[in-house]
Amino acid sequence: ETPEQHAAFEARIAAGDKIEPGDWMPAEYRRQLIRMISQHAHSEVVGMLPEGEWISQAPTLKRKTILMAKVQDEAGHGQYLYHAAETLGATREEMLEALLTRKAKYSSIFNYPTLTWADVGMIGWLVDGAAIKNQTMLAGCSYGPYSRAMVRICSEETFHHKQGKEMIVAYAQGTPEQRRMAQDALDRWWWPAVQMLGPHDSDSPNTGVLSRWGIKLKSNDEVRQEFVNEHVPELLEAGLTLPDPDMHQNEQGNWIHGPINWDEFWAVIKGEAGLGNERLATRQAAHDEGAWVRDALQAYADRQRRSASE
Ligand code: ACO
Repeated sequence: ETPEQHAAFEARIAAGDKIEPGDWMPAEYRRQLIRMISQHAHSEVVGMLPEGEWISQAPTLKRKTILMAKVQDEAGHGQYLYHAAETLGATREEMLEALLTRKAKYSSIFNYPTLTWADVGMIGWLVDGAAIKNQTMLAGCSYGPYSRAMVRICSEETFHHKQGKEMIVAYAQGTPEQRRMAQDALDRWWWPAVQMLGPHDSDSPNTGVLSRWGIKLKSNDEVRQEFVNEHVPELLEAGLTLPDPDMHQNEQGNWIHGPINWDEFWAVIKGEAGLGNERLATRQAAHDEGAWVRDALQAYADRQRRSASE
């Protein structure tokens, strides 16, 4: 890496150019993107598990088809994202190995249990709502394949968000039991959703370099504030109560939350609390059970290659 290459790269970033797969890029830019995109892909794939558990128990055929479509979308998002990381030279095998051996993280939010059907709606409203705020920002990022993947993913996430909100608003106006379920789901999912946008800016080691290279266009706290500002008034309007006694609106109109329990956040990421161990065991079992499919695809590809060269 020469100073001239770096200078030319920085100039392209400053000019708002998209960096494409064959272009020169600093090794650290490549490393950061592989880290982030592969962790994002893992989150989509592990994210199918908490909601997938409810497909067979959905209360109506309409809700069941919506949930099946949503979970299938998450698998598709995982695919786009693994492909985007592959354009940077990462292999699928390396990335999956990193997930299964805990070298790579995935989002903390998916280590929480889905205890009732209302959790499915609350995940759509809050988790997809938070994801959209983060991913709309990433749609403007400097790496072409990642930014383009985000455009399609965000439009699908918007459908996920709407179905979750519609479900919770219906329950919040429903029978006393439905109202209790909606409130209980909010009580359990609110803080994990606030946490999932990442540590405070002062504790976010990657934000500096990611912002400098146009990968992150907003900091964790800025995205969190956008999420809180949009969702708090809507949740209150639905008749629900935020599980945060400190929540208030300041003079600028921002909703200000109370202190976040970061000990819980890190424990959940490390698998010391929450369902991290179960989630990885489920992924490992699915990986092992899928070995014959990968072998068959490989044998087919080898045969095609042989017959093409004959
Ligand atoms: N869960 C697990 N790990 C997290 C989380 C979280 N919610 N938030 C931050 N971290 C990790 C970071 O990955 C980083 O660890 P690493 O260096 O070992 O990779 C560490 O905590 C420190 O955090 P930051 O320096 O703030 O990390 P970064 O600048 O990458 O910001 C963020 C974190 C905002 C999640 C960023 O990586 C990002 O935008 N990723 C792409 C979006 C994404 O992954 N979304 C997943 C959920 S959305 C969905 O699947 C529906």
